[in-house]
Amino acid sequence: MVAYSLSSETLSVPMKLFTKNRLRLSEELASKVSRKAFVFLEGGKETFRGNTSDAAYVFRQESNFHWCFGVTESDFYGAIHVKTCKAILFIPKLHPDYEIWDGKIHDLEHFKTKYEVDEVHYICDMVNVLKSAADELLLLRGYNTDSGRYNEPASFEGIENFKTDLDLLYPAISELRVFKTPEEIEVIRYANKISSEAHRAVMQSIKPGLFEYQMESLFQHHTYAKGGARHVCYTCIAASGNNAAILHYGHAAEPNSKQIQDGDMCMFDMGAEYYCYCSDISCSFPANGKFTPQQSGIYNAVLKANRAVMDAVKPGVLWTDMHLLSEKVLLAELKEMELVVGDVDEMMAARIGAVFMPHGLGHFIGIDTHDVHGYPDDAPTRSSLPGLKSLRTARELKAGMVLTIEPGCYFISKLLNDAFLDEDKAKFLNREKIRDFMDFGGVRIEDNVVITESGCDLLTDVPRTVEEIEAEMQKSDMKLTMF
Ligand code: GLY
Ligand code: MN
Ligand code: MN
Repeated sequence: MVAYSLSSETLSVPMKLFTKNRLRLSEELASKVSRKAFVFLEGGKETFRGNTSDAAYVFRQESNFHWCFGVTESDFYGAIHVKTCKAILFIPKLHPDYEIWDGKIHDLEHFKTKYEVDEVHYICDMVNVLKSAADELLLLRGYNTDSGRYNEPASFEGIENFKTDLDLLYPAISELRVFKTPEEIEVIRYANKISSEAHRAVMQSIKPGLFEYQMESLFQHHTYAKGGARHVCYTCIAASGNNAAILHYGHAAEPNSKQIQDGDMCMFDMGAEYYCYCSDISCSFPANGKFTPQQSGIYNAVLKANRAVMDAVKPGVLWTDMHLLSEKVLLAELKEMELVVGDVDEMMAARIGAVFMPHGLGHFIGIDTHDVHGYPDDAPTRSSLPGLKSLRTARELKAGMVLTIEPGCYFISKLLNDAFLDEDKAKFLNREKIRDFMDFGGVRIEDNVVITESGCDLLTDVPRTVEEIEAEMQKSDMKLTMF
């Protein structure tokens, strides 16, 4: 079996995962195109660390190209004959000096075997090869509703000789990417496994006095050294104390640089990707290993929301309803804690949920962390209401979708101060009580699940109850700890 694996210790991923994806794509397009139509894709390009630098970033494949071919090298093109599903790769002809600086130059046969495709040619022969076989090229051109960006369709010298279509491919491939095959789910499960272990390593190693970036480093070390994951699939959020109220903490202007204090609540949102398949996991826990009543109160409120959604998801359920369910559970718990007052349904109508959880409940995950096609043309559109408008999909759930479930509760001064000044909201907020929490930061509990015929399958494996977390933090497994 031809498969990808970094070593005998890491997951082996068969190339048939990609053969199957190509077959699904061909079947989807077959009735809509001519006999000689080809899907044509441009792989990711090598990119450099500055306008004039010759130092390249570590390459990560373009997501649609990966979905079709599983190619790890940069600067390839790929084509699929829709009617027969014949797969062709086009590879750069490398300068002989490549062998001095970069390693062995492999021949065409090597890549044909490595990726189990039907043909491999050099890019310099691409126009002639395509001209003899294709009367139309289907190119990828579409809008990503998460990034707000269009992708550039494939281009090459001589493309003007071909009839091209920009409309068919993007919706077809994006919709197929929403539904994961069993082979794909196994890779996402593995990304979850190694990231879950790394989160445990962080929990066992953390102590006040260490720095947030050291926890980020430990996570990355663990997922790479033990799991073979060269990349994390988004910038690690290793937030302690007040920083946990910064939803996307960890970027260049907030680079996980605070020293962790005794009494801090931590919110670590970190996920590795393996062979371009992502995980996205958030764990929240006290830095010193023991929850205070205040910390366990907020934590348990969020956990209850997480578990209520996990129990309710199944085919036919609307994701927007799951968001509202998580808000309702959270607000009922905050009412028990006397942070909010009044009728929960009225609070929901006044969008109080979004004061404490401004982000969406969760999103599709796959080859992209925020995976594609949350808002296709024939699905519910994006809400304009606070909280709901941040959802990356409003779709009805179906078996085979993989999503995150990530409710949170944050004490974000801007949102709370704005709400105190808004009489429609202020009447539900117990200002005196909330004042005690203004330095709390926040809690997010984020799991990854596959929707099944009857519910969901949980892929994430980290301690979740207060008792489980406190027990984990007492452990000192030498395989996991670093400091
Ligand atoms: N880590 C980004 C997110 O949770 O969506
Ligand atoms: Mn996350
Ligand atoms: Mn997420």
